Amino acid sequence: MHIQWFPGHMAKAKRQAIENRNMVDIVLELVDSRIPESSRNPLMDEIVNNKPRLVIMNKADLADRARTEEWLTHFNQSEKNQQAIAIDAFSHSDITRTKKIIKEMMAEKMAIRKQKGMKPRAIRLMVLGIPNVGKSTFINQMIKKNRAKTANKPGVTQQQQWLKIENDFELLDTPGILWHKFEDQKVGVKLALTGAIKDALFHKDDIALYALDFFIHTYPGRIKEAYHLSEDMTDKTYPELLMELTTHLNFGDDFDRASEKLIFDIRDGKLGAYTLDEVPVEPEETKVSGNE
Ligand code: G4P
Repeated sequence: MHIQWFPGHMAKAKRQAIENRNMVDIVLELVDSRIPESSRNPLMDEIVNNKPRLVIMNKADLADRARTEEWLTHFNQSEKNQQAIAIDAFSHSDITRTKKIIKEMMAEKMAIRKQKGMKPRAIRLMVLGIPNVGKSTFINQMIKKNRAKTANKPGVTQQQQWLKIENDFELLDTPGILWHKFEDQKVGVKLALTGAIKDALFHKDDIALYALDFFIHTYPGRIKEAYHLSEDMTDKTYPELLMELTTHLNFGDDFDRASEKLIFDIRDGKLGAYTLDEVPVEPEETKVSGNE
């Protein structure tokens, strides 16, 4: 991986993120819309604490729209001080919409400042998220400048500056980079499939087998269409299906090559838009009946 997340790094990143949170009015938490849960840092709630938070579901152009809607509803209902928006960071109108929502979320706070006779000031923002969710891209689009890509340093560097965005916002120039979730193997596979973990942390065929299982169950017909197979072959086991695909692609018995192709095709959106994480089902409130 690009970042070695030793416990010391994690503690430092968390500490810096909390220090920076104290300097801003609102935290912009970026997640990948294809994995809205798996791309969240496990300590995000603790880090953000009660600060207003806008969850920015980025890369919405790559995600399943219906599922994105479900996730938006979930995020909008799960925390009091939190709203959510789904964007494609490269879309000008989405960036404009984001700025508008931030202003709306901060309107009351700014009005109170005004009532108290305090000088109006720009809304202070920070961006937080795990690697590859699009933090640098988003910041560049917000400031409409193409800065050099920031290095993936844990937390926020010492020499940080505020970037002025019009007269309305001041944004901490370096995003807070937090670590992935590691505890759950399945989360790791999803991160690898979407390209958040690029290096060989997992065997390609493990990721490919997960992908085959996921697509055949969630989006039936897409594997068949993408590779011009005669059927989805749901009667086959996934290893058999991977063998079949390898042969079909004329890759001999090179399963690794077929796995890699499948993974890259999925990352490139050749199998269509998709969302790997499902919205958690809230347990129905147990209705306590009155006196019996
Ligand atoms: P980071 O700072 O959070 O680590 O992410 P970064 O901005 O570097 O973005 C990671 C990759 O995601 C980049 O691709 C970037 O172009 C892409 N990206 C960011 N936002 C969006 C979005 O809204 N939609 C889509 N489709 N892509 C987005 P890259 O430079 O090609 O890197 P990679 O593909 O080699 O990882």
